[in-house]
Amino acid sequence: MKSLKLLSSLAFTLIACASFSQSDSLDKYILTPPPSPKPHINGAEVFGVRPNSPVIYKIAASGQKPLHYEVKNLPQGLSVDASTGVITGALKNAGDYKMEVTVSNALGKNKRNFTIKVGNQLGLTPAMGWNSWNCWGLSVNADRVKSSARAMIDKGLIDYGWSYINIDDGWEAAQRNADGTISPNEKFPDMKSLSDWLHAQGLKFGIYSSPGTRTCGGFLASYQHELQDAATYASWGVDYLKYDWCSYDSVYRAEGDTTDAAFIKPYTIMQKALLQQPRDIYYSLCQYGWRDVWKWGANVNGNSWRTTGDINDSWGSLTSIWSRQAPLYPYASPGHWNDPDMLVVGMLGWSDNLHPTKLTPDEQYTHISLWCLLSAPLLIGCDMSKLDNFTTSLLTNDEVLALDQDILGKQAQQIIKKDDYQIWVKQLEDGTHAIGIFNLSKEAKTIHVDWKELNLSETLTVRDLWRKKDLGKFKKGFDTKVNSHGVELIKVK
Ligand code: GAL
Repeated sequence: MKSLKLLSSLAFTLIACASFSQSDSLDKYILTPPPSPKPHINGAEVFGVRPNSPVIYKIAASGQKPLHYEVKNLPQGLSVDASTGVITGALKNAGDYKMEVTVSNALGKNKRNFTIKVGNQLGLTPAMGWNSWNCWGLSVNADRVKSSARAMIDKGLIDYGWSYINIDDGWEAAQRNADGTISPNEKFPDMKSLSDWLHAQGLKFGIYSSPGTRTCGGFLASYQHELQDAATYASWGVDYLKYDWCSYDSVYRAEGDTTDAAFIKPYTIMQKALLQQPRDIYYSLCQYGWRDVWKWGANVNGNSWRTTGDINDSWGSLTSIWSRQAPLYPYASPGHWNDPDMLVVGMLGWSDNLHPTKLTPDEQYTHISLWCLLSAPLLIGCDMSKLDNFTTSLLTNDEVLALDQDILGKQAQQIIKKDDYQIWVKQLEDGTHAIGIFNLSKEAKTIHVDWKELNLSETLTVRDLWRKKDLGKFKKGFDTKVNSHGVELIKVK
């Protein structure tokens, strides 16, 4: 008995060492310095809401806790919780409500302007949050969702603007109720209380369905129950809907009309159903980029639309998705984003069997840099309760995330495309530019950036965003050594 105990404790120590050494070995790839204990306001500078819709907006701020939040010129109808920074309430009249946010702690204070735009546009900056699919696949359940939400708070991601917690496929009951309404299955005993809990933390709640009779995972979908489903989601407090084409293919083929109009129709039906709800629901179209969705997605109020098939955690998948994004830059704008699919960093698995992402650390820097340059929705696809230091650092660099959340809403343009490297430039609201210098080759290489080729001024000051370091003034151009499959992400002015 004693020796058995000894053996099992030895095994436990070995397992603990193995997992420690894995995250330990990733620590050396961390480029971003640890966050300052002083208060710093992060996240988007605008938030869009419809008149009378409930507002739940958490002011994202990092720094040593406790933090104290104040908002000057907060319009009537809204209030802010001074200790959590969550703004709640509703605004009746359309317009731009400008305010000044101050966050303070024992070490100082930080101020920033913030605007709530009341009108008909949501998602004025791309959604940032978590989705269950790339980790849990169809084995998602309420506890798993809650544990990722808990981690989003405990590991401080919420302080950088991460806010949506989205359940993907696998939540639906096998049958509709007698009145035709949809219910969750036994894995989600109480959607309303899950959503209330998320909202109380300042988080938002997302859900998934399809316009056909079945979802991609074979669960019940919304065909001919669109309005009823939208109302059910609203009654649960849903803030985000991913609407995934899947089995609608057989519906529209059966109807014998395969025109663009017939393809768009189911997204219009759900658009109308969502608009009738007394709350704002971010509308995420998922149809793998078919029928040039970027050309009509905004017309059905799509806040984002998938531009490709599903991502996986391989360099091949990343580069294949990447290769299709360059022509889409004119279609991204505040409220309407190209979506190259969810993030594949951290512990992934699409099932009960999770594994660390197969992307190398350099490939992960490339992935996050590119998605931020593309103004893509950022949906973390891993089990966040297992976030290691490296992945946490990758997801909490405020200067990198600020590119994604820039209120100008311009997607980066691919300016230089060679077989072994690419240079992408994103115009930012403050008149500066972000530049991603990507090395696609199998060896580290020095890449020369010529300002003129990028249509930029002759002399520029350069800041390395991952390292948060000013690199100095550079005349005519800039040389940088980039690791294989890695990136140098800079901001120039
Ligand atoms: C796919 C979709 C994935 C995931 C899955 C669920 O069509 O692209 O992101 O939602 O369905 O079954």
